[in-house]
This record gives sequence, structure tokens and C-alpha cells, in this order.
Amino acid sequence: MAENQHHPFLHGLSKHRGAPPTVVVIFGASGDLTARKLIPAVYNLSYDNLLPADFFLIGFGRSEITDEAFRVVASDAVKQFSRRELQTDVWNRISAHTTYVSGGYDDKAAFDRLYQHISEIEKKLGREVQPLFYISTPPSVFQSIITNLGASGLASKYLGQAHQAKVIIEKPFGRDLDSARALNTTIRSHFEEQQVYRIDHYLGKETVQDLLVQRFANSIFEPLWNRNFIESVQITVAEEVGVEARAGYYEQSGCLRDMIQNHTMQLLALTAMEPPVSLDAEAVRDEKVKVLRAIQPLNVQVGGDVTRAQYTDGMIGGVPVKGYLQEPGVSPKSGTETYAAIRLSINNWRWQGVPFYLRSGKRFPRRVTEIAIQFRKPPGTLFAQNKHLDLAANTLTFQIQPDEGLSLILNGKIPGLETRIQPVKMNFRYATTFGSNTPEAYERLVLDAMIGDGTLFIRGDEAETSWKLYTPVLDFWKSQGQKGMDQYPAGSWGPTTAETLLSTNQHTWREP
Ligand code: NDP
Ligand code: BG6
Repeated sequence: MAENQHHPFLHGLSKHRGAPPTVVVIFGASGDLTARKLIPAVYNLSYDNLLPADFFLIGFGRSEITDEAFRVVASDAVKQFSRRELQTDVWNRISAHTTYVSGGYDDKAAFDRLYQHISEIEKKLGREVQPLFYISTPPSVFQSIITNLGASGLASKYLGQAHQAKVIIEKPFGRDLDSARALNTTIRSHFEEQQVYRIDHYLGKETVQDLLVQRFANSIFEPLWNRNFIESVQITVAEEVGVEARAGYYEQSGCLRDMIQNHTMQLLALTAMEPPVSLDAEAVRDEKVKVLRAIQPLNVQVGGDVTRAQYTDGMIGGVPVKGYLQEPGVSPKSGTETYAAIRLSINNWRWQGVPFYLRSGKRFPRRVTEIAIQFRKPPGTLFAQNKHLDLAANTLTFQIQPDEGLSLILNGKIPGLETRIQPVKMNFRYATTFGSNTPEAYERLVLDAMIGDGTLFIRGDEAETSWKLYTPVLDFWKSQGQKGMDQYPAGSWGPTTAETLLSTNQHTWREP
């Protein structure tokens, strides 16, 4: 399959009908995310001819830089971070339409200048241009930007039309239920929900979209996808990296806020939701919210449904690494968890009694994100005379990253004159079937927002429902400080207390 062709089914998941003339305005244009992900995403969309012919890019920020200086910053970002090398003809198409507006995020006059700047672009072009605002600043200024987009009239530009103004909001979306509600209130006083695209970049990953395809484009899974056949579900989002240079952010966040409340819960929602009535954004989001609402409140006490830990020093890939409390910028008394594990119950017809185990953390032995569906064990009766009786439970694993793919463990006969049984693995690997140069999540998400498809974004009530579940945990942990915080050596699969979350059901954590 050619590199830039999409599977036909994905046209249903996101209608790639072509974006109208668009101006993307990036707030926080001098920042890390802009360089690492956003500019390379725009470049690769251009490379694949997926940008509208009339495409404009405006950087906005407090840094006082010229248009030309911003173009240099942007082309350097492509050189350093794009999955494809910079090709001059592709870059020139973008560069010729790239400008920069400097100003403060709380300065209404700067937003008036931005309005004026966009109007001039439209005047030169002789037609209206869809404004797409990308808020890529630290969350402390989200509210100011949204308020000024409203006050300057930018938020309501072309409201009600297909090319109405749209806004993409980076994570984290609040830090608890109250702050998420406050942010939603500000957003709703300036934007309609259909204009708002709350990012969770995991939804833009190819394999996460494939989860929907596997579930709903195949007939063999759905009849088994319930409490009658499934024993448990384990979702692991493991990172090899530590806190790196991000202690300033991470100390205020921790694993539950950074990874579980958003990315891991999105994986859970897509795994557990009912089939939506259509692939429209609202239909998919309705089902996600429904299943999130069916999750039972968590027992936050030590020995309950949650556990947390910090990594201590250890070895990663044969190299010694520091413990969390010794990392630069981390308080030696820090109560911030770098690991969290949760046992969830979904109290609905499909899932009642099936435990969902979630874990995420930094400094695992390797980077791996997977969803493992463990089916009930087959009865051993038929092979009872055979000494190799312990039949493996069938396990279907979605390997989200890296080495993306899908595998199924089955029991098979070892060739020979006796009947001896061994678990065998059926394996589908993306790289083997489709080649390895798949689009980055941000490419898909920026394009979807440009064409007005919110399926792979979070709706306001979805974010709040997830925060509602976790806010009592966060409050309890805050009240405890370091008390009850477990530890795990860097390079291990987590603390021993996490084992007890599973052992009450005679389950164990996988070592993927
Ligand atoms: P940065 O810290 O690089 O900040 C982005 C820009 O915002 C800066 O270049 C600066 O631009 C402006 N800025 C920084 N601090 C402040 C401040 N205190 N007040 C006002 N403006 C400020 O952030 P990132 O690019 O790393 O992240 C941007 C957003 O994306 C965040 O919400 C983050 O959570 C999210 N994100 C980031 C990821 C990443 O890999 N970096 C991954 C996933 C999400 P100027 O001074 O020119 O105005
Ligand atoms: C970000 C978190 O949202 O996701 C980071 O803030 C984390 O802490 C990152 O490292 C992981 O993303 P990915 O795509 O590399 O799995």
C-alpha cells in the first residue's frame, strides 16, 4: 500500500474530504511541542499533499522574533524532528505562507493585531480562511488565551459555517475535577463545543485507531467481548525514560494526572465501550462517556484499588540511572508518584465482574504500551490424561507501541506422536504488513481538526467524567504526602504492592 494511502475504512472514521483554506495559529510557537511535533506534523501533511492549497501558518508568542527568524526556527524543527528529511520544495510551500505575531497571552491588543493579520491574509487571497488555533503553551495561560480569542472576536469568526474558527487545546486538561470544570466553563463562554478539540495524542496513534477497526470491522471478536468469555483486561503504558528535564512540570503532575487520567483511560474507553451507532464524533464520544460513567468509584485507601510508587536508582539497558528523588529539580521529600496502578470495575451488563487493571510508569525496563484481553481458561477435561494439562488462557494483545501489532495466544499441538500442547502465538506486525513509515499522531489530529472531525478528540464531559473518578485518589494521596508511597527499582516492572491488586483474583501482571 502506498505510503500516504489510508485504509478505506478509515475514511469512515475520519472523513478526509479535504480541508478548506486554513490559517493555523500556534500559541506557544517558540516551545518544545511546537518544534518536536507540530511543525513536523504540518510539514508531513504538506509532503503528503493533505494541506489545503491555501494554507497559512502563524506563530504567536511573547518572544519578539521576526517572520524570517520564525521560519528558520520552524525549518530547523523539521530538520531535527520530522520523520522525513526536509525537502526544499515541500518546505518552501509552507515557508512562503509562514508569519509570526508577537504579544502576551493576556494582552487583548495583541489578539486584535492577530485578527488584523488574518484579515490581511484573507484580503490578499480574496476569500475567507478558516482559523484553527492551537494552544500549545503551559496550562497556566490556557484561560487567558481562550478569553482573548473570545474578546477579540476570533473565536466567533464564521461561526455556524463549515470553516468556523476552531481551537485545539493541549493537555493537561485541568488538574482535577474542579479545574477541568472551570476550564470547560471558560471555553463554553467563548466557543461552541463543536469548535473545540481537546487533544489526547494517544487517540491519533495508528494502533489506537486500529483498535476500533479490529473491534468493529471483524465479526469474530464482538460475540466474545464480554464477561462470559473475558477473565480480565490489562492495560500497560510503560516508559523507559525517567522524568528527564521535566521535573518542574512533573512534580506538579505525577503519573496519575500525566498518563492514567487521559491516555490510559482513553485506551480503556475504546476497549470497553459499546459499538457506537455510527462513526460520527458524537456517537463515538457518547459511548466512551457511557462506559466511563459505569466505572465504580475507587477505594482510595492503601490496600484498596490503587497503588502508587516512585522509582529508586537502578539499571536501564545496562546503564545505571538515578532514583526519582535524586533527579534534578525534584524535592527529596516529593510525594509525586512516577508509577500508578489501578483496579477498576465497570458495572454494566457487558463487564460486571471483569477486573480492568491499568498501570503506567516511568523507568520500566522498556517502553511498551499494550492492551491485553485475557480470555477465560478452557476446561482441561479433554486432555485430562495428558501430563501437560495446564492449558494457557487465550490472550489477545494489542501492541500499541513500539513494534505495533496484534497477537493472539492459542494452545497448539507440538508435532510428534504424543499429544503435547504448547501455547503458540499468532502475530500481526504493522511493519511487516504495511511498512514502518506510519504518520505521527499529531499529523492525523491536526488534519482532523482542520476538516472539522472531532472523533479522535475528547469531549468536555468525557474529561470531567475521568477526573471525577480520579479526583478522590489525588486528594487522598495529597493528604498522605510520602506516606503509603511504595518504591520500585528503575528497570523493574513496578512495586510489589501492585501485585496484591491482582493477586486477590489470582491474576498476575504481565511482563510484556
Ligand atoms: P514550553 O514550556 O516549551 O512552552 C511553550 C511556550 O509557551 C514557550 O516557548 C513560551 O513561549 C510560552 N511559555 C512558557 N512558559 C510560559 C509561562 N509561564 N507563561 C506564559 N507563556 C509561557 O511547553 P511545551 O511546548 O513543552 O508544551 C506545550 C503544551 O503542550 C503544554 O500544555 C504541555 O503539557 C503539552 N504537551 C507537551 C508535550 C511535549 O513533548 N513538549 C507532550 C504532550 C503535551 P513565549 O515565551 O515565546 O511566549
Ligand atoms: C505525554 C506525557 O503526554 O505522553 C509524557 O506528558 C509521556 O510524560 C508522553 O512521556 C508519552 O507519549 P508517547 O507518545 O511517547 O507514548
